[in-house]
Amino acid sequence: MSTTQTNKIEILKSATSKINEVDFGNLSFGSVFTDHLFECDFKNGEWQKPVIKPYAPFLLDPSSRVFHYGQAIFEGMKAYKDANDDVWLFRPDENYNRFNKSALRMAMPEVPEEIFMNGLNQLLQLDEAWIKKGKGNAMYIRPFMIATGTGVIANPSHDYKFMIILSPVTSYYSGDVKVLIAEHFSRAANGGIGAAKAAGNYAAQFYPTNLANQAGFQQVIWTDDATHTKLEEAGTMNVFFRINDTLFTAPVSERILDGVTRKTLIELAKSENIAVEIRPVLVSELVEAAKNGSLKEIFGAGTAAVVSPISGFSYQDVYYDLPKIEKSVAIQLKDKLTNIQNKLEEDTFGWTVKI
Ligand code: COI
Repeated sequence: MSTTQTNKIEILKSATSKINEVDFGNLSFGSVFTDHLFECDFKNGEWQKPVIKPYAPFLLDPSSRVFHYGQAIFEGMKAYKDANDDVWLFRPDENYNRFNKSALRMAMPEVPEEIFMNGLNQLLQLDEAWIKKGKGNAMYIRPFMIATGTGVIANPSHDYKFMIILSPVTSYYSGDVKVLIAEHFSRAANGGIGAAKAAGNYAAQFYPTNLANQAGFQQVIWTDDATHTKLEEAGTMNVFFRINDTLFTAPVSERILDGVTRKTLIELAKSENIAVEIRPVLVSELVEAAKNGSLKEIFGAGTAAVVSPISGFSYQDVYYDLPKIEKSVAIQLKDKLTNIQNKLEEDTFGWTVKI
Protein backbone atom coordinates (compact mmCIF):
# COMPACT_ATOMS: atom_id res chain seq x y z
CA MET A 1 0.00 0.00 0.00
CA SER A 2 1.21 3.52 -0.75
CA THR A 3 2.35 5.79 2.02
CA THR A 4 -0.22 8.21 3.40
CA GLN A 5 -0.08 11.70 4.74
CA THR A 6 -2.81 11.48 7.37
CA ASN A 7 -3.70 15.11 6.83
CA LYS A 8 -7.04 16.53 7.86
CA ILE A 9 -9.33 17.29 4.98
CA GLU A 10 -9.32 20.93 3.91
CA ILE A 11 -12.91 22.08 3.43
CA LEU A 12 -13.68 24.88 0.98
CA LYS A 13 -17.39 25.57 1.12
CA SER A 14 -19.39 26.77 -1.82
CA ALA A 15 -20.71 30.33 -1.32
CA THR A 16 -24.08 29.38 -2.79
CA SER A 17 -26.11 26.17 -3.15
CA LYS A 18 -27.82 24.79 -6.27
CA ILE A 19 -30.23 22.70 -4.20
CA ASN A 20 -33.27 24.95 -4.80
CA GLU A 21 -32.86 24.57 -8.56
CA VAL A 22 -33.32 20.77 -8.37
CA ASP A 23 -36.65 19.05 -9.01
CA PHE A 24 -36.19 16.10 -6.64
CA GLY A 25 -39.48 14.56 -7.79
CA ASN A 26 -38.22 14.28 -11.33
CA LEU A 27 -34.59 13.14 -11.26
CA SER A 28 -32.93 11.47 -14.20
CA PHE A 29 -30.42 8.95 -12.81
CA GLY A 30 -26.93 10.35 -12.26
CA SER A 31 -27.47 13.70 -13.95
CA VAL A 32 -27.61 16.08 -10.96
CA PHE A 33 -24.66 16.55 -8.61
CA THR A 34 -24.45 18.11 -5.16
CA ASP A 35 -22.62 21.31 -4.25
CA HIS A 36 -19.27 19.73 -3.31
CA LEU A 37 -16.80 17.03 -4.28
CA PHE A 38 -13.93 15.28 -2.54
CA GLU A 39 -10.50 15.21 -4.17
CA CYS A 40 -7.13 13.73 -3.28
CA ASP A 41 -4.14 13.63 -5.62
CA PHE A 42 -1.38 11.01 -5.73
CA LYS A 43 2.01 12.55 -6.59
CA ASN A 44 5.64 11.61 -5.95
CA GLY A 45 4.53 8.21 -4.63
CA GLU A 46 2.30 9.74 -1.92
CA TRP A 47 -1.28 10.75 -1.35
CA GLN A 48 -1.45 14.52 -0.95
CA LYS A 49 -3.63 16.68 1.28
CA PRO A 50 -7.31 15.84 0.65
CA VAL A 51 -9.80 18.59 -0.04
CA ILE A 52 -13.56 19.02 -0.22
CA LYS A 53 -14.42 21.86 -2.56
CA PRO A 54 -17.25 23.20 -4.71
CA TYR A 55 -18.29 20.84 -7.52
CA ALA A 56 -16.84 22.29 -10.72
CA PRO A 57 -15.07 21.25 -13.93
CA PHE A 58 -11.28 20.95 -13.73
CA LEU A 59 -8.34 21.15 -16.13
CA LEU A 60 -6.25 18.22 -17.28
CA ASP A 61 -3.26 18.10 -19.60
CA PRO A 62 -4.30 16.65 -23.01
CA SER A 63 -1.57 14.02 -22.66
CA SER A 64 -2.94 12.75 -19.31
CA ARG A 65 -2.74 8.95 -19.45
CA VAL A 66 -6.43 8.50 -18.67
CA PHE A 67 -7.27 9.86 -22.13
CA HIS A 68 -4.85 7.59 -23.99
CA TYR A 69 -4.62 4.34 -22.05
CA GLY A 70 -7.83 4.34 -20.05
CA GLN A 71 -6.47 4.02 -16.54
CA ALA A 72 -9.77 4.81 -14.84
CA ILE A 73 -11.74 2.93 -12.19
CA PHE A 74 -14.87 3.67 -10.19
CA GLU A 75 -17.34 2.44 -7.61
CA GLY A 76 -21.09 2.80 -7.15
CA MET A 77 -22.47 3.09 -3.62
CA LYS A 78 -25.56 4.60 -2.01
CA ALA A 79 -26.45 6.50 1.18
CA TYR A 80 -29.96 6.57 2.66
CA LYS A 81 -31.66 8.91 5.13
CA ASP A 82 -33.95 7.35 7.74
CA ALA A 83 -37.02 8.80 9.46
CA ASN A 84 -34.80 10.32 12.19
CA ASP A 85 -32.64 12.10 9.59
CA ASP A 86 -29.70 9.78 10.24
CA VAL A 87 -27.68 8.89 7.15
CA TRP A 88 -26.61 5.30 6.49
CA LEU A 89 -24.19 3.63 4.10
CA PHE A 90 -24.74 0.06 2.93
CA ARG A 91 -21.74 -2.31 3.15
CA PRO A 92 -19.19 0.45 2.36
CA ASP A 93 -16.28 -1.87 3.20
CA GLU A 94 -17.26 -4.05 0.22
CA ASN A 95 -17.00 -1.12 -2.19
CA TYR A 96 -13.76 0.08 -0.62
CA ASN A 97 -12.13 -3.34 -0.94
CA ARG A 98 -13.35 -3.80 -4.51
CA PHE A 99 -12.06 -0.34 -5.45
CA ASN A 100 -8.57 -1.30 -4.38
CA LYS A 101 -8.80 -4.65 -6.16
CA SER A 102 -9.68 -2.72 -9.32
CA ALA A 103 -6.76 -0.34 -8.64
CA LEU A 104 -4.32 -3.25 -8.35
CA ARG A 105 -5.54 -4.80 -11.64
CA MET A 106 -5.23 -1.46 -13.46
CA ALA A 107 -1.70 -0.78 -12.05
CA MET A 108 -2.99 2.17 -10.03
CA PRO A 109 -2.17 2.98 -6.37
CA GLU A 110 -4.45 1.74 -3.62
CA VAL A 111 -6.44 4.45 -1.86
CA PRO A 112 -5.91 4.28 1.93
CA GLU A 113 -9.06 3.50 3.89
CA GLU A 114 -8.79 6.71 5.90
CA ILE A 115 -8.82 8.86 2.77
CA PHE A 116 -11.69 6.94 1.17
CA MET A 117 -13.94 6.65 4.23
CA ASN A 118 -13.24 10.03 5.86
CA GLY A 119 -13.61 11.77 2.53
CA LEU A 120 -16.91 10.03 1.91
CA ASN A 121 -18.29 10.68 5.41
CA GLN A 122 -17.36 14.35 5.47
CA LEU A 123 -18.66 14.96 1.96
CA LEU A 124 -21.98 13.33 2.85
CA GLN A 125 -22.21 15.37 6.04
CA LEU A 126 -21.58 18.61 4.19
CA ASP A 127 -24.15 17.88 1.45
CA GLU A 128 -26.56 16.06 3.78
CA ALA A 129 -29.52 18.30 2.84
CA TRP A 130 -29.38 16.74 -0.65
CA ILE A 131 -30.19 13.25 0.72
CA LYS A 132 -33.94 12.81 0.59
CA LYS A 133 -35.89 10.51 2.89
CA GLY A 134 -38.28 7.78 1.83
CA LYS A 135 -37.99 4.46 0.05
CA GLY A 136 -36.87 4.93 -3.52
CA ASN A 137 -34.71 7.98 -2.73
CA ALA A 138 -30.97 7.63 -2.26
CA MET A 139 -27.72 9.48 -2.68
CA TYR A 140 -25.69 7.69 -5.35
CA ILE A 141 -22.01 7.91 -4.52
CA ARG A 142 -19.43 7.72 -7.27
CA PRO A 143 -15.82 7.35 -6.06
CA PHE A 144 -13.40 7.22 -9.00
CA MET A 145 -9.71 7.45 -9.83
CA ILE A 146 -8.03 8.57 -13.06
CA ALA A 147 -4.44 8.68 -14.28
CA THR A 148 -3.36 12.31 -14.49
CA GLY A 149 0.33 11.77 -15.29
CA THR A 150 1.32 13.25 -18.64
CA GLY A 151 3.03 11.82 -21.73
CA VAL A 152 1.80 9.43 -24.37
CA ILE A 153 4.26 6.66 -23.58
CA ALA A 154 2.26 3.49 -22.87
CA ASN A 155 3.25 3.01 -19.24
CA PRO A 156 1.25 3.37 -16.05
CA SER A 157 0.98 6.94 -14.84
CA HIS A 158 2.90 8.19 -11.80
CA ASP A 159 0.16 10.64 -10.86
CA TYR A 160 -3.51 10.03 -10.11
CA LYS A 161 -6.59 11.87 -8.95
CA PHE A 162 -9.09 10.22 -6.62
CA MET A 163 -12.47 11.92 -6.37
CA ILE A 164 -15.92 11.34 -4.92
CA ILE A 165 -19.01 12.97 -6.39
CA LEU A 166 -22.59 12.64 -5.16
CA SER A 167 -25.81 12.43 -7.15
CA PRO A 168 -29.32 12.29 -5.64
CA VAL A 169 -31.24 9.51 -7.41
CA THR A 170 -34.42 7.53 -7.59
CA SER A 171 -34.70 4.52 -9.93
CA TYR A 172 -32.22 3.57 -12.65
CA TYR A 173 -34.65 1.83 -14.98
CA SER A 174 -38.18 3.03 -15.53
CA GLY A 175 -40.61 0.76 -17.31
CA ASP A 176 -40.11 -2.67 -18.77
CA VAL A 177 -36.63 -4.19 -19.02
CA LYS A 178 -36.28 -6.58 -21.94
CA VAL A 179 -32.90 -8.16 -22.59
CA LEU A 180 -31.03 -9.58 -25.53
CA ILE A 181 -28.73 -12.54 -24.94
CA ALA A 182 -25.36 -11.95 -26.60
CA GLU A 183 -24.46 -14.44 -29.33
CA HIS A 184 -21.33 -12.78 -30.65
CA PHE A 185 -20.12 -9.85 -28.53
CA SER A 186 -18.43 -10.30 -25.14
CA ARG A 187 -18.11 -8.09 -22.12
CA ALA A 188 -14.92 -9.68 -20.80
CA ALA A 189 -12.52 -12.58 -21.27
CA ASN A 190 -10.47 -14.74 -18.93
CA GLY A 191 -7.25 -12.98 -18.04
CA GLY A 192 -8.81 -9.61 -18.81
CA ILE A 193 -10.28 -6.90 -16.60
CA GLY A 194 -13.92 -8.05 -16.35
CA ALA A 195 -13.75 -8.40 -12.56
CA ALA A 196 -12.44 -4.83 -12.16
CA LYS A 197 -14.77 -1.86 -12.11
CA ALA A 198 -12.73 -0.30 -14.88
CA ALA A 199 -14.25 2.44 -17.04
CA GLY A 200 -13.24 0.60 -20.22
CA ASN A 201 -15.45 -2.37 -19.36
CA TYR A 202 -18.44 -0.07 -19.69
CA ALA A 203 -17.23 1.66 -22.87
CA ALA A 204 -16.78 -1.74 -24.50
CA GLN A 205 -20.45 -2.53 -23.94
CA PHE A 206 -21.85 0.64 -25.47
CA TYR A 207 -21.71 -0.38 -29.15
CA PRO A 208 -23.42 -3.79 -28.79
CA THR A 209 -25.86 -2.29 -26.27
CA ASN A 210 -26.75 0.43 -28.80
CA LEU A 211 -27.54 -2.31 -31.32
CA ALA A 212 -29.72 -4.03 -28.71
CA ASN A 213 -31.47 -0.71 -27.90
CA GLN A 214 -32.21 -0.19 -31.60
CA ALA A 215 -33.82 -3.63 -31.63
CA GLY A 216 -36.03 -2.68 -28.65
CA PHE A 217 -34.02 -4.12 -25.73
CA GLN A 218 -32.81 -2.14 -22.72
CA GLN A 219 -29.87 -4.38 -21.84
CA VAL A 220 -27.70 -7.24 -23.04
CA ILE A 221 -27.00 -10.34 -20.98
CA TRP A 222 -23.42 -11.22 -21.84
CA THR A 223 -22.36 -14.78 -22.44
CA ASP A 224 -18.88 -16.23 -21.91
CA ASP A 225 -16.40 -15.17 -24.57
CA ALA A 226 -15.08 -18.68 -25.30
CA THR A 227 -18.31 -20.54 -26.10
CA HIS A 228 -21.21 -18.04 -25.75
CA THR A 229 -23.14 -20.79 -24.01
CA LYS A 230 -23.01 -19.52 -20.39
CA LEU A 231 -25.01 -16.59 -19.06
CA GLU A 232 -22.79 -14.11 -17.25
CA GLU A 233 -23.95 -10.61 -16.24
CA ALA A 234 -25.80 -7.67 -17.72
CA GLY A 235 -23.03 -5.10 -17.35
CA THR A 236 -24.99 -2.62 -15.24
CA MET A 237 -26.08 -5.47 -12.97
CA ASN A 238 -25.57 -9.14 -12.12
CA VAL A 239 -28.42 -11.46 -13.09
CA PHE A 240 -30.53 -14.06 -11.32
CA PHE A 241 -32.79 -16.66 -12.95
CA ARG A 242 -35.64 -18.37 -11.12
CA ILE A 243 -36.45 -21.80 -12.46
CA ASN A 244 -39.33 -23.35 -10.52
CA ASP A 245 -38.52 -22.33 -6.94
CA THR A 246 -34.73 -22.13 -7.19
CA LEU A 247 -32.67 -19.04 -7.92
CA PHE A 248 -29.60 -19.46 -10.10
CA THR A 249 -26.78 -17.00 -10.62
CA ALA A 250 -23.36 -17.35 -12.20
CA PRO A 251 -20.32 -17.58 -9.93
CA VAL A 252 -18.09 -14.49 -9.88
CA SER A 253 -14.99 -15.01 -11.95
CA GLU A 254 -12.26 -13.15 -13.82
CA ARG A 255 -15.03 -12.09 -16.19
CA ILE A 256 -17.87 -11.28 -13.79
CA LEU A 257 -18.04 -8.42 -11.31
CA ASP A 258 -18.32 -9.38 -7.63
CA GLY A 259 -21.50 -7.36 -7.14
CA VAL A 260 -22.38 -6.16 -3.64
CA THR A 261 -26.13 -6.37 -4.34
CA ARG A 262 -25.60 -9.84 -5.84
CA LYS A 263 -23.89 -11.18 -2.73
CA THR A 264 -26.44 -9.44 -0.50
CA LEU A 265 -29.38 -11.03 -2.35
CA ILE A 266 -27.77 -14.46 -2.07
CA GLU A 267 -27.54 -14.02 1.71
CA LEU A 268 -31.07 -12.59 1.95
CA ALA A 269 -32.54 -15.41 -0.15
CA LYS A 270 -30.88 -18.00 2.09
CA SER A 271 -32.24 -16.24 5.18
CA GLU A 272 -35.74 -16.38 3.64
CA ASN A 273 -35.35 -20.11 2.88
CA ILE A 274 -35.26 -19.55 -0.87
CA ALA A 275 -33.03 -22.10 -2.60
CA VAL A 276 -30.06 -20.50 -4.40
CA GLU A 277 -27.59 -22.25 -6.66
CA ILE A 278 -24.40 -20.48 -7.66
CA ARG A 279 -23.20 -22.21 -10.80
CA PRO A 280 -22.81 -21.50 -14.50
CA VAL A 281 -26.25 -21.20 -16.10
CA LEU A 282 -26.44 -22.31 -19.74
CA VAL A 283 -28.36 -20.37 -22.39
CA SER A 284 -29.82 -23.72 -23.52
CA GLU A 285 -31.20 -24.33 -19.99
CA LEU A 286 -32.84 -20.93 -19.97
CA VAL A 287 -34.43 -21.42 -23.39
CA GLU A 288 -35.64 -24.89 -22.39
CA ALA A 289 -37.06 -23.55 -19.10
CA ALA A 290 -38.81 -20.71 -20.95
CA LYS A 291 -40.31 -23.23 -23.38
CA ASN A 292 -41.53 -25.69 -20.74
CA GLY A 293 -42.83 -22.97 -18.39
CA SER A 294 -40.41 -23.62 -15.49
CA LEU A 295 -38.68 -20.24 -15.98
CA LYS A 296 -40.56 -17.97 -13.59
CA GLU A 297 -38.39 -14.86 -13.25
CA ILE A 298 -35.22 -13.13 -14.36
CA PHE A 299 -33.95 -10.11 -12.49
CA GLY A 300 -30.90 -7.89 -12.35
CA ALA A 301 -29.13 -6.86 -9.15
CA GLY A 302 -26.87 -3.84 -8.76
CA THR A 303 -26.35 -0.73 -6.66
CA ALA A 304 -27.84 1.55 -9.29
CA ALA A 305 -30.40 -0.94 -10.59
CA VAL A 306 -31.27 -2.31 -7.07
CA VAL A 307 -33.43 -5.33 -8.08
CA SER A 308 -34.79 -4.91 -11.60
CA PRO A 309 -37.27 -7.48 -12.89
CA ILE A 310 -36.78 -8.45 -16.54
CA SER A 311 -39.93 -9.01 -18.54
CA GLY A 312 -38.50 -11.19 -21.30
CA PHE A 313 -35.44 -12.10 -23.34
CA SER A 314 -34.50 -12.67 -26.92
CA TYR A 315 -32.08 -15.30 -28.17
CA GLN A 316 -31.32 -16.14 -31.79
CA ASP A 317 -34.18 -13.88 -32.93
CA VAL A 318 -36.81 -15.64 -30.80
CA TYR A 319 -38.43 -13.57 -28.04
CA TYR A 320 -39.46 -15.33 -24.83
CA ASP A 321 -41.96 -13.42 -22.69
CA LEU A 322 -41.89 -14.22 -18.99
CA PRO A 323 -45.15 -15.14 -17.24
CA LYS A 324 -46.83 -12.54 -15.00
CA ILE A 325 -46.56 -14.00 -11.53
CA GLU A 326 -48.29 -13.16 -8.29
CA LYS A 327 -45.56 -14.02 -5.79
CA SER A 328 -42.40 -12.57 -7.24
CA VAL A 329 -39.15 -13.51 -5.51
CA ALA A 330 -37.53 -10.44 -7.06
CA ILE A 331 -40.05 -8.18 -5.34
CA GLN A 332 -39.79 -10.12 -2.06
CA LEU A 333 -35.99 -9.70 -2.03
CA LYS A 334 -36.15 -6.08 -3.18
CA ASP A 335 -38.55 -5.22 -0.34
CA LYS A 336 -36.34 -6.91 2.22
CA LEU A 337 -33.20 -5.21 0.87
CA THR A 338 -34.67 -1.72 0.62
CA ASN A 339 -36.30 -2.02 4.06
CA ILE A 340 -32.89 -2.80 5.56
CA GLN A 341 -31.17 -0.04 3.58
CA ASN A 342 -33.79 2.53 4.61
CA LYS A 343 -33.80 1.36 8.25
CA LEU A 344 -37.45 0.29 8.05
CA GLU A 345 -36.53 -3.19 9.22
CA GLU A 346 -33.88 -4.37 11.67
CA ASP A 347 -30.52 -5.02 10.05
CA THR A 348 -29.58 -8.34 11.64
CA PHE A 349 -26.68 -8.72 9.19
CA GLY A 350 -24.74 -5.63 10.33
CA TRP A 351 -24.62 -4.22 6.79
CA THR A 352 -25.74 -0.64 7.51
CA VAL A 353 -23.18 1.88 8.76
CA LYS A 354 -24.16 5.28 10.15
CA ILE A 355 -22.11 8.23 8.98
C1 COI B 1 -23.75 0.63 -10.08
O1 COI B 1 -24.68 -0.16 -9.99
O2 COI B 1 -23.47 1.40 -9.16
C2 COI B 1 -22.92 0.70 -11.28
O3 COI B 1 -21.79 1.02 -11.16
C3 COI B 1 -23.50 0.49 -12.60
C4 COI B 1 -23.41 1.74 -13.41
C5 COI B 1 -23.21 1.44 -14.82
C6 COI B 1 -24.57 2.65 -13.17
